[in-house]
Amino acid sequence: MPPKAHKERPHRDFLQIPDFSAKEIERLFSLAEAMRRGKYRTKTLAGKSLAMIFMKSSTRTRVSFEVGAWQLGGHALFLSPRDVQLGRGEPIADTARVLSRYVDGIMIRTFAHSEIEELARYADVPIINGLTDLVHPCQVLADVLTVKQNLGDYKGKRIAWIGDGNNMANSWLNAAYVLGFELTLACPEGYEPNPMILQRAQSKARVRVVRDPAEAADKADVVNTDVWASMGQEEEQAVREKAFRGYKVDESLMSRAKKDAIFLHCLPAHRGEEVAAAVIDGPQSRVWDEAENRLHIQKAIMAVLIGGERV
Ligand code: CP
Ligand code: NVA
Repeated sequence: MPPKAHKERPHRDFLQIPDFSAKEIERLFSLAEAMRRGKYRTKTLAGKSLAMIFMKSSTRTRVSFEVGAWQLGGHALFLSPRDVQLGRGEPIADTARVLSRYVDGIMIRTFAHSEIEELARYADVPIINGLTDLVHPCQVLADVLTVKQNLGDYKGKRIAWIGDGNNMANSWLNAAYVLGFELTLACPEGYEPNPMILQRAQSKARVRVVRDPAEAADKADVVNTDVWASMGQEEEQAVREKAFRGYKVDESLMSRAKKDAIFLHCLPAHRGEEVAAAVIDGPQSRVWDEAENRLHIQKAIMAVLIGGERV
């Protein structure tokens, strides 16, 4: 077989939630739901390989992508910077071109969002975002799916985000932009979400940034939080602990939300910091369903982007 010629982007990437339309996201949710119920048995990834580049640690993302690829009949390779030349300074562009000759899709977790954009620019295969400093789109699709499973729909729901305007908050904004639900974020001064992502979301959906967590949680259907110091911000822990004092999701804050509100957290969580044990381990918490949904939604994404499933 002759060497593969450079193809002019015959594929799609998933770098951010707006890469899919609302209709496509609904179709992904249906596919994920069929997969969850064991109703989807097509080996869409048969004979295909997924490269998984992890420049940061991971439990959920790594295991759910690897197991998901296998369940669809495919195969996944775990590549850490300790083992691949990327970690010794081989350019992303060269890595993209070489991996494209071997594998059918690349999932990457990295730091700067510009790195995944560069990977996507030079790769001939679909790129899937497993988290960057800017966004965590697979997680928030899993989260919205969890909302739909538990509350029937995300439309007309009030979502509260408490804490850091980080990659998770930015992805919730992107989800509000595409899917149009109400989102209120309570962030301390200096820790607001990305201004461009915020502005775009505000052009389409009812989105507010406030300071007071109680104001965001007020009559909310979903209360959501994340760690105060994300991966790569470890040295800021002490400063952040001070800045985020008062932003803990505890039982008192949950009592501001609707009676049947659910609590979400992408995990890993720090009990006693951003969330009280009584909340994350309490009756309103859906964090284990949320983590499970990573598997189903990512299988749906891989089936569509790599396996040619209709969306
Ligand atoms: N929520 C999430 O992405 O978890 P991991 O860091 O364990 O992959
Ligand atoms: N905001 C967190 C999410 C971890 C899944 C981080 O980036 O570390």
